[in-house]
Amino acid sequence: MKMIRSLIAGVGAYLPERVVTNRELAQRVDTSDEWIVERSGIRQRHIAADDQLTSDLAIAAARRALEAAGMSGGDLDLIVLATATPDNTFPSTATRVQAALGMAGGAAFDVQAVCSGFIYALSVADNFIKAGQARSALVIGAETFSRILDWKDRTTCVLFGDGAGAVVLRAEAGHGEVSDRGILSTHIHSDGRYYDLLKVDGGASSSKQVGHLRMEGREVFRHAVANLTEVVGEVLEANGLAPQDIDWVVPHQANKRILDSTARKLHLSPERLVVTVDQHANTSAASVPLALAEAVGDGRIKPGQLVLLEAMGGGFTWGAALVRM
Ligand code: ACO
Repeated sequence: MKMIRSLIAGVGAYLPERVVTNRELAQRVDTSDEWIVERSGIRQRHIAADDQLTSDLAIAAARRALEAAGMSGGDLDLIVLATATPDNTFPSTATRVQAALGMAGGAAFDVQAVCSGFIYALSVADNFIKAGQARSALVIGAETFSRILDWKDRTTCVLFGDGAGAVVLRAEAGHGEVSDRGILSTHIHSDGRYYDLLKVDGGASSSKQVGHLRMEGREVFRHAVANLTEVVGEVLEANGLAPQDIDWVVPHQANKRILDSTARKLHLSPERLVVTVDQHANTSAASVPLALAEAVGDGRIKPGQLVLLEAMGGGFTWGAALVRM
C-alpha cells in the first residue's frame, strides 16, 4: 500500500553575527568561563543585534533551507514556526516570514512549546502532509532568548543564545517500508503540573511586562534526563529499533551534561551525538534544527541515514522524531 511520507528536502540555519564568549560575559555577570564550561559545556553564544527580530533570523534560515531544497516561497503550502520569543504578541511571527518569502497562499502559524517547539512544529507539519492537507511545508525554530533573559541572574543568563534553523518538508509517496526516506514517526508529550519550574514571569494576560526567564535548574535537569530517556525508548519501540540502529542523535542543546546522561542511560554512542551547545548555548526551539543543519552541512549526516531528534522544554513539554534522511 502506498503511503505519504514527509521527506526532508532541505535544511538551513542562521546565527546572528555577534558572538559573546563566557569570558566576555564574566566581565558583566558574576560568573567564570570555568563554571559555565564545567556545569553546562557552553563556551559561547550568538546574540541578535538590537534591530534583529526573531522573524529576521527565521527568514534567513528559511531562505537557506529553501535554497537547499531547490524551492522558493511560492512552492510552499504551509509554514509552522516554533518560537517562545515572537516579534509581537500577535500576529504570528510565521505570517511575517510568509510575506517575506513571497508565499501568497496556504497557511502560516506559530506553535509554542519552548525548547520542544521544533519537534512539536515538525509533528504538526508532518501530520498535515500525511493527511494530504499540504504537499510542502516549512518548519522553523527561531528565538531571540536574549530579550527575555534577566542579565542580572547568573543562574540563567549564561545558558542561552539566539538563532534559527529550518527544514523544508515535501510529500513523497513511499511503499510502506521502514527503509523509505522521510519522517518515520513523531512523539510529543506535555505535563502542565510542572508549569512553574521553567517559565517567563510575565505575558499579555498575566502582567503588563513581557517578563524574564525563571528556572529551577536542578529540577529541570532531573526531569529532562528522565523524560528524554523515556521518549527515546518510545521511538525505538515504535519503530522496532535498537540504539545501535540509530546513525545520529540530534538532541536539544541545553546542557552537555544532560546530553551525556541521556546518552549513557540509553546506551547511545557519544560519537553519534551531534553537539553544538558549546558554540550556540541553548537556543530553545532553534537548537535542534541548528544542530541538524550543522551536521548535514559538514557531511556527517548523509542521505539514507537514520536520525533521531529529541527535545525537552518548559511546560514541561518533550518529544522526539525519527527521520530517514
Ligand atoms: N556562575 C558561577 N556560579 C554560579 C552560576 C554562574 N553562572 N550560577 C549558579 N552559580 C552557583 C550557585 O549560586 C551555587 O552556589 P552555592 O553553592 O554557593 O549556592 C552553585 O553555583 C551551584 O549552583 P546549582 O544551581 O546547584 O548548580 P548546578 O550544578 O545545578 O548547575 C545548571 C546549574 C547548569 C543550571 C543545571 O542545573 C542545569 O543545567 N539544569 C538544566 C537546566 C536547563 O538546561 N534548562 C534549559 C531549559 S530546559 C531544557 O532545555 C532541557
